Amino acid sequence: MLSGPALLSRLACRRVGGTGLRNLSSHDAPKHALKLQPEQQRVSSFFPIDSNNTFATDFPLSEGNLSNIVLYDGKKVRGLLSGPQVSTNEDYNELASEWIRVLDSGPGVLVVKDAFPDHELLDQVTTAFEEIIKEEEEENEGVGDHFSAAGNNSRIWNAQEKLCVKNPALFVKYMNNPILTACSRSWLGPDFQVTSQVNSSHPGSAAQDPHCDYHLGFRSNEQVVEYPAHVHKMSQYLTLQGAIAHVDMPLESGPTTFLPYSQNFERNYLTWRDPQFIEYYKMRNCQLPLDKGDAVFFNPGLIHAAGDNLSENVDRLANLVQISSAFGQPMETLDRYRMCKAAYPSMLELVNSEGHGDPAHILAAIECTAFGNAFPTNLDKDTPQGSSPPPSQKDKLYEALMMKLTPYEFGQWMDAHKGLRESV
Ligand SMILES: [Fe+2]
Repeated sequence: MLSGPALLSRLACRRVGGTGLRNLSSHDAPKHALKLQPEQQRVSSFFPIDSNNTFATDFPLSEGNLSNIVLYDGKKVRGLLSGPQVSTNEDYNELASEWIRVLDSGPGVLVVKDAFPDHELLDQVTTAFEEIIKEEEEENEGVGDHFSAAGNNSRIWNAQEKLCVKNPALFVKYMNNPILTACSRSWLGPDFQVTSQVNSSHPGSAAQDPHCDYHLGFRSNEQVVEYPAHVHKMSQYLTLQGAIAHVDMPLESGPTTFLPYSQNFERNYLTWRDPQFIEYYKMRNCQLPLDKGDAVFFNPGLIHAAGDNLSENVDRLANLVQISSAFGQPMETLDRYRMCKAAYPSMLELVNSEGHGDPAHILAAIECTAFGNAFPTNLDKDTPQGSSPPPSQKDKLYEALMMKLTPYEFGQWMDAHKGLRESV
């Protein structure tokens, strides 16, 4: 059970009453709010609220919530997702609609317990990540990142491509997870682009300041105010932020803290650097312990921060998945042709071994590997077929698996497809 006294006792939440934020109503908003004004970033412009409590009845497929973080049972979710993730599947539709409500107008964050149930597989992936970390640390001694100073945490940028190339068979098994793709599809629609960054926060690493994520979360206040108010809202719909827990993360190890509903505050991207707000956040944030295999998904506009790792011996290792809309620009450059070529033999082996000859059985892995949008392309060479776009990289990968092309034949297909899409 996910609810009850035992689990409640593990909850740490500094929230008293409401979050202190509420949605801007049309009455509050400026009539012609082309741009947010600099003074609107002040914490004094927050509106007091006391009504943003999350009720289980709002999200009937959930197991309830702990301090506004909505909890789902991975086994139950897998049951609902046993059919295709398409709009004609009623179970998928119901779940997707509920997740959209959580992420959009609701608390903005959900946890799927036991989303990655094969812990042996997770451990194998963790070992591969640790090998990559060791190799990179030997090459780049003393380099920190935005998370922390050098030595406090270990980071793999573009872990998606690096794992795929290092151990394709492991990558295909790991990414063939219907919960990851279902949440991505729910929030972003089809043809989403999965990227990931691994972070291992060592004992003693300090908490982050509260912040929002990509896109606008990586802009200064001066840059942010240049984007019209509607772009602030739009930015949230172009990315889904998530994390896969590779180890048990008790509270003392500092799992991510959140300010539920803060994605609905129109000035969120202007507020999070304000010293007054940082103090406010310390009093009001919510935090849940995570178990190995849990997955967290949240709106990138939700204000959040990694916590202090006060544990003696927990390296808090998470795979931070960042999924972009087909219409968005991911933060990282991935060579997905290289990934497709690397993963294809393992995908083909899996299709053959299941004896069905049906790539639908590894559709999630396909979607986490290939680029699903046909555009941008060179329309002189890669001509649309009537009103339909030309085949995407994902279409070609799927078709190759259906036809059971050899890896060599598939490599030639990919080279030809890439050539068609280049500008010259
Ligand atoms: Fe973040």
